[in-house]
Amino acid sequence: MIRVTVIAVLAAIVTTLVAVLIRWLPESASEQMDRITFTYWFATVISIAIFSIVIGLIVYSVWAFRVQPEDDTDGPPIHGNTKLEIAWTIVPALLVISIGLVSAVVISKNANAGSDPLEVKVFAQQFAWKFEYPGEVRSDELVMPLRRPVEFHMESADVIHSLWIPQMGQKQDVVPGVTTKIVITPTRTGTFTLICTELCGLGHATMRAPVRVLEQPEFASWLAKQRAAGAGAAGGAASGGTGGGTQAGGAASALGKQTFASAGCGGCHAFEPAGTDAQIGPGLDNLVADAKKAGEPEDAYIEQSIVEPNAVVVAGYQPGVMPQTFGETLSPEELDALVAFLSGK
Ligand code: CUA
Repeated sequence: MIRVTVIAVLAAIVTTLVAVLIRWLPESASEQMDRITFTYWFATVISIAIFSIVIGLIVYSVWAFRVQPEDDTDGPPIHGNTKLEIAWTIVPALLVISIGLVSAVVISKNANAGSDPLEVKVFAQQFAWKFEYPGEVRSDELVMPLRRPVEFHMESADVIHSLWIPQMGQKQDVVPGVTTKIVITPTRTGTFTLICTELCGLGHATMRAPVRVLEQPEFASWLAKQRAAGAGAAGGAASGGTGGGTQAGGAASALGKQTFASAGCGGCHAFEPAGTDAQIGPGLDNLVADAKKAGEPEDAYIEQSIVEPNAVVVAGYQPGVMPQTFGETLSPEELDALVAFLSGK
């Protein structure tokens, strides 16, 4: 019996090494991911070892104690083995409790944002992400400082989404009507991708956002630049509004293009000027013809299609697929600029 147990334990060690030595998970890029990876392997190594020992003993027993040919006698009666039963109750109980304790410590540490986190608001909608930094700096890209905890405050405009950056481990649902929170502390610089991991509609697979982790001084200068640009853009729009002319037109079309990208239109629609070719919703390169078919002036038709997408549904497409929240989530300036961009003006 001792020989069997030794063989089973050796098998457990070999299979555990095979499992651990192959890189199954992406290289960690956050403190939270380090802890999640530790928890994962803590539980997995225990599971592999127990599994290998049990299977090893079963296979050996089936082979060593199999019935001999012509042997029709009963096996010896057994009344149990108290020591063995106590052992196989206590050992698994201790292992499961230890996994529970490790998980509880990791969950609590991963939720701790420390005394000075960077707070970033996250707005999710079908099918785009937006981020807001202190000082009302809005961005379509998630930029994070190295080694400073970032606390996300997340809201959804429509359905349930879920925020996940694979290398950073943490994952949290974004639920309409609730502000959910999550903390990520990046541990290496680089570019990553934020992915929506909750099936949220036809454009779900396209709901991604670029992520960049910068050294703290670089992050500070990025944020300062964004703040200055935000103030500049607001000033420019105001002066364009009073002055009119070609410069205002240029600013409006830039805003239109930017709105097309930030509202996630390209996730579903093909539109040549924006360089998108998605096929989930109708293409937007023939809006003049579509407006004519609907019997409406072009600009009115485009605006209606954005704000009230079920009013006219292009043949071959389903109503109710396009989000009906753009009337609330886009500012009047963004809406006008988007209509102008789409009509090619
Ligand atoms: Cu948002 Cu899937």
